[in-house]
Amino acid sequence: MAKLPRNEDPNLLVGFVNNDDAVIYRLTDDIALVTTADFITPPVNDPYIFGQIAGANAISDVYAMGGRPVTCLNLAAFPIKKLDVGVLHQIIAGALSKVTESGAVLAGGHTIEDDEPKFGLAVTGVVHPKKYWSNSGACPGDVLILTKPIGSGVLFNANIKGWVSEKAMEACIVALTTLNKTAAGIMAGFGIHAATDITGFGLAGHAFEMAKGSNVQLEISTDRVPVMMESLAMYKKGVTTGVNRHNRRLVENKARFEKSFPPWHEEIVFDPQTSGGLLFSLPESQGETALNALQSGGVRDARLIGRVRELKGDMNLIFK
Ligand code: CO
Ligand code: CO
Repeated sequence: MAKLPRNEDPNLLVGFVNNDDAVIYRLTDDIALVTTADFITPPVNDPYIFGQIAGANAISDVYAMGGRPVTCLNLAAFPIKKLDVGVLHQIIAGALSKVTESGAVLAGGHTIEDDEPKFGLAVTGVVHPKKYWSNSGACPGDVLILTKPIGSGVLFNANIKGWVSEKAMEACIVALTTLNKTAAGIMAGFGIHAATDITGFGLAGHAFEMAKGSNVQLEISTDRVPVMMESLAMYKKGVTTGVNRHNRRLVENKARFEKSFPPWHEEIVFDPQTSGGLLFSLPESQGETALNALQSGGVRDARLIGRVRELKGDMNLIFK
């Protein structure tokens, strides 16, 4: 992204160069805009659930910055000659349910005709210009907390083959349609050093961005990472996604497995997420308390998954 044409502005606190989740733009000394846009192709057939996932996914980037979503705009591409317009209305109704739950308002949007449906939101939120969470403040001595399980990428692919149980698919959809609102709200009570959400680049890719931006090493205990039911089993069966290889290449030479895992087990950290959880770096002294607050506050899959160390050489990421 750093090579794209752009201009500069002293009030742009977080922009292209940071590879962060959303843009932060200072309006006054007390208020900054958080802006982001995201749209996806349908990972499920049900249009309402597609809307919910796409909505939760887009709004998540505001939560990842510690912001509060305020207004949302639909971004839709739709094959109007092939599909009934009622399908589009279902997609928007699904998104609206998540927008409403977030406390924001769906204020408009734009639809174009396209061969394949795509849907997402442009989201505007607010945050204090000195209190937003970036992905680049992790400190040696911190611990890492992840708030949702990973593995949805491989489950969606395996589900096309009919290999995933109904129970596992339902649990996956519950996780993906869950807003990161509760997790972000609880964590606002702690001294967060860095935060991001886990999406297309997988746990490895987004953890790497945090490590690189913070100039530290993240050490992740692979066995402690929450995974979705049947996701590891699908990798063991040989299922993968079209993105795993790319995600692995993104962190090549910067990440290492210290413990030996079977190759299929390693794949889970490269699994691309849609509407994934939040990854937090916070002082070790607050780790257990924060984790308990999350779990008792309804974020039951939250886990402490690792720690932050001084950077040794250029190995940003250790999986052990
Ligand atoms: Co993000
Ligand atoms: Co995003």
